[in-house]
Amino acid sequence: MAKSLVVFSLLLLLLPISPLTAHPNTPNPKPSPSPAHTDLTNYGFPIGLLPTAVENYTINRTTGDFIVDLGGTCKVTLPSDYVATYSKKITGKIVVGKIANINGISVRALFRSQPITGIRSSGDNLVFEIGTVSVKYPTKNFEESPACEGRHSS
Ligand SMILES: *[C@@H]1O[C@H](CO)[C@@H](O)[C@H](O)[C@H]1NC(C)=O
Ligand SMILES: *[C@@H]1O[C@H](CO)[C@@H](O)[C@H](O)[C@H]1NC(C)=O
Repeated sequence: MAKSLVVFSLLLLLLPISPLTAHPNTPNPKPSPSPAHTDLTNYGFPIGLLPTAVENYTINRTTGDFIVDLGGTCKVTLPSDYVATYSKKITGKIVVGKIANINGISVRALFRSQPITGIRSSGDNLVFEIGTVSVKYPTKNFEESPACEGRHSS
């Protein structure tokens, strides 16, 4: 009894040391991407399609239906000076190479705001379905996740 207590106390003394050896102090310069950004990559899309401000993300792995919560509305300027507005909540259906039924992203084009309803990956390009037209942009323009420029309560 007394002997096992001593062993137990020794183990307790050793415990604070083991995490140090298990996790060496490696530099970690970049914050890890959110699960939503990681999933974009998993499905063949660049992380720049979503702003950095992802607060919550759920996906049904069977259907690909997803919900992204940005905590508030978010405005970003896309390459070619298009201003995109994200709602607090964005929904859609993602499969490899294709995001459909998108709800919550609009882009100001031709002097009015139009919804982006779908995004396809096509070779080195992304094809955006904006209203009734399809617009093609190089995927490499979306390598970085943009920060929200303006926030409004929604
Ligand atoms: C995240 O979203 C899911 C589904 O919309 C919801 O059930 C959950 O409560 C949310 N979590 C947080 C922390 O907002
Ligand atoms: C995913 O969606 C399917 C079909 O709607 C549903 O049966 C299933 O319960 C969902 N899974 C989760 C984890 O919500």
